[in-house]
Amino acid sequence: MESILNTPANSPISHKNNFALARIASVGTAVPTRVLSNADLEKMVETTDQWIVERTGIKQRYIVENGVTCSDLAAEAAKKALANAGVPATDVDLIIVATVTPDMMLPATACLVQHKIGATKAWGFDLSIACSGFLYAMQVAVQFVANGVHKNVIVIGMDIMSSIIDYTDRQTCIIFGDGGGAVLIQPSDVVENGCFIDFLHEVDGSGGDFLCLPGGGSQMPASEKTVADKLHYVKQDGPVVFKFASKRMPELCARLLERNGLTGADIDLFIPHQANLRIIKAAVDRLGMPMEKVIVNIDEYGNTTAGTLPLAIGTALGQGRLKKGDLVLFAAMGAGLSAGATLMRWGF
Ligand code: UT7
Repeated sequence: MESILNTPANSPISHKNNFALARIASVGTAVPTRVLSNADLEKMVETTDQWIVERTGIKQRYIVENGVTCSDLAAEAAKKALANAGVPATDVDLIIVATVTPDMMLPATACLVQHKIGATKAWGFDLSIACSGFLYAMQVAVQFVANGVHKNVIVIGMDIMSSIIDYTDRQTCIIFGDGGGAVLIQPSDVVENGCFIDFLHEVDGSGGDFLCLPGGGSQMPASEKTVADKLHYVKQDGPVVFKFASKRMPELCARLLERNGLTGADIDLFIPHQANLRIIKAAVDRLGMPMEKVIVNIDEYGNTTAGTLPLAIGTALGQGRLKKGDLVLFAAMGAGLSAGATLMRWGF
């Protein structure tokens, strides 16, 4: 496959390249207002602010008030993305919600969002691959836009992790927060207006047990016992996931860069999944990038699972660090085990 990188900036994009025709046209984010600080967690489990900051980089996270759902925040983010693009909800063709914390097992949260935002002509579905969800969902959207079938696809990465976290388990409860965002994926006419360039995704199901929520599915339907045994909460082997993330995330990024004739030095902005500051630093070291090229907001939001990447795009835009023409590298990893990397030219 010839890389779109070799195409002059003002050329019409070649239809030969599947990933050339779609771009992120706008962004919207949504987070709850209630802060759960490290000091709050010190009162709930045996931990300290110092340990959390040193081991993860997290200082606080936001969590929802009772009754606020995934679709509430997803709809808020989608409305902002549409408003930022000046696109009416009635023009949306497809809504994809990446989440592991849907409002309910069924119907899909995408259906609830469709109704809440008034996207009367849209179809939609949820995509469940935890922290890699947003990158995977964007690539699905790109296929529909690149093949000319759709013009406006809303991709949402949103998780209400507080709904599946055991706040007596100090290894997990300190990491996660609630929130996320939405992007509008549209066709792109020329490279300089932005385009997806390439991606690499990978799953390794042999690592499924290391990060999972065992209860409530067909394997272990909900019962008094599953509730008593706390099986409706996230269980993780932190160090194993840490090792996987620190190794595989940069490896995928390096392979993606290499096959496009690039190195870390060519990237203008690196937007990694916000799981742990030490994982981000390991990836940055491996890719040979200065931290000035990296978006980090884990200190404020914690790990919001599928929500981290759209939130990080929001941070990048808010800080004025994402500019038209920038070559941007995204990276994610999470339950599955799964990982992904995406390369794109930013267009606004
Ligand atoms: O998006 C993907 C989601 N998950 C992840 O990305 C998780 C990746 N893993 C991690 O981020 C890290 O493994 C954690 C932050 C979960 C844990 O950090 P760690 O440096 O790997 O700690 P550890 O599990 O190896 O534990 C080291 C020590 C243990 O004590 P001992 O046995 O050495 O006495 C733990 O019991 O730290 C203890 N510990 C804590 N101490 C204070 C574990 N959690 C805490 C805590 N506060 N919250």
